[in-house]
Amino acid sequence: MEDFFEDKIQSVRNDFPILSRSIYGKPLVYFDNAATTQKPNLVIDAISNYYRNDNANVHRGVHYLSQHATGAFEDVRKKVAAFVNASSPNEIIFTRGATEAINLVAWSYCETFLEAGDEIIVSALDHHSNIVPWQMACERKGAFLKVIPVSEEGELNLEVLETLLNSRTKMLAISHISNTLGTINPIAEIVVMAHSKNIPVFVDGAQGLSHGPVDVQKIDCDFYAFSAHKMYGPMGIGGLYGKTSWLEKMQPYQLGGEMIDKVTFAKTTFNEIPYKFEAGTPNVADVMGFGAAIDYLNSLGWDFITRQEQDLLHYATEKLSGIEGVKIYGTSKHKAAIVSFAIEGIHFFDAGTILDHLGIAVRTGNHCTQPLMEVFGISGTLRASMAFYNTRQEVDRLIAGIYSVKSLFA
Ligand code: ALA
Repeated sequence: MEDFFEDKIQSVRNDFPILSRSIYGKPLVYFDNAATTQKPNLVIDAISNYYRNDNANVHRGVHYLSQHATGAFEDVRKKVAAFVNASSPNEIIFTRGATEAINLVAWSYCETFLEAGDEIIVSALDHHSNIVPWQMACERKGAFLKVIPVSEEGELNLEVLETLLNSRTKMLAISHISNTLGTINPIAEIVVMAHSKNIPVFVDGAQGLSHGPVDVQKIDCDFYAFSAHKMYGPMGIGGLYGKTSWLEKMQPYQLGGEMIDKVTFAKTTFNEIPYKFEAGTPNVADVMGFGAAIDYLNSLGWDFITRQEQDLLHYATEKLSGIEGVKIYGTSKHKAAIVSFAIEGIHFFDAGTILDHLGIAVRTGNHCTQPLMEVFGISGTLRASMAFYNTRQEVDRLIAGIYSVKSLFA
């Protein structure tokens, strides 16, 4: 069966050099996009162009190259702000990625606002990066971590959440999209619930920003974290959106470099936001790549991206459901193009290794969500996470691969 956007996908695939390579002599089927997406030429060229022509430190020089690099760096901040509809570029802080953004808030916010006896809420759907920093903050401060349970379908239990929200709750930290099950959480609804009790909401958007438009003002979340490498941009760069009112009150996370206002041996004062949270020399080249990735996504448009990904999700779900002995984990009505599954009687590492030798890259294991695995009573799954450049033919190759795995173990 053909893809709805057959012609467009072929031309889009040509933008990604890696997609035309072979693995073990077979054309690559890359279904590990939730771990990291592939990079288009535009992004690769932006990084190399920066080092070839424009390299200089930012915010630190009167010379031409430094001024030019600073302008380009700040232009990307504006681009990111527009992409998520932040009310000001000052609400965008560049970090190494979503994990660092979460750690930043879990440290800076909690140092300022969390006290002994307080509570922080996370969910059983979250990956380790959106659990452990909050858990450690609770340990540091003598606070308590509360957990929203998930249903068999992989959806958050909002009735339980309602009972968890109380005057001791200092933060609700929630993922936008589950990296393991693909569940799209109703974050706008959750924000309304939390805000009705004056509780701020941190959204881990590591999987969120690549699958659909995000408007932080409309969602009204207090923080939103993201990673460029899951948005077709470079590794090692990402960011944090935070409401000005919170960022201004929070303590700095790391110290030195651009975050300084004035230093004496008696006292140090700090720069304004966003620089207060950007210590040291930033990763300018990858910020350039990140800007190019946003340009690329904007040029494709969300209509194409979401329609193609939803088509692949439904096609893959239908085909996988038709294989005897295959069980899909996560059957929420609202899902991104991520399918976790197990093959009865076959360990996920064995199945993943055989698929790999057929040129098919899927992720295997607990997907950095050990508490979620515990909910389902399993140690791991196979996970196919798809992107707009994937095709129905590639899903067919996965299905044929699973039949090969089954026949090898029969
Ligand atoms: N959190 C990333 C994943 O789901 C690495 O694979």
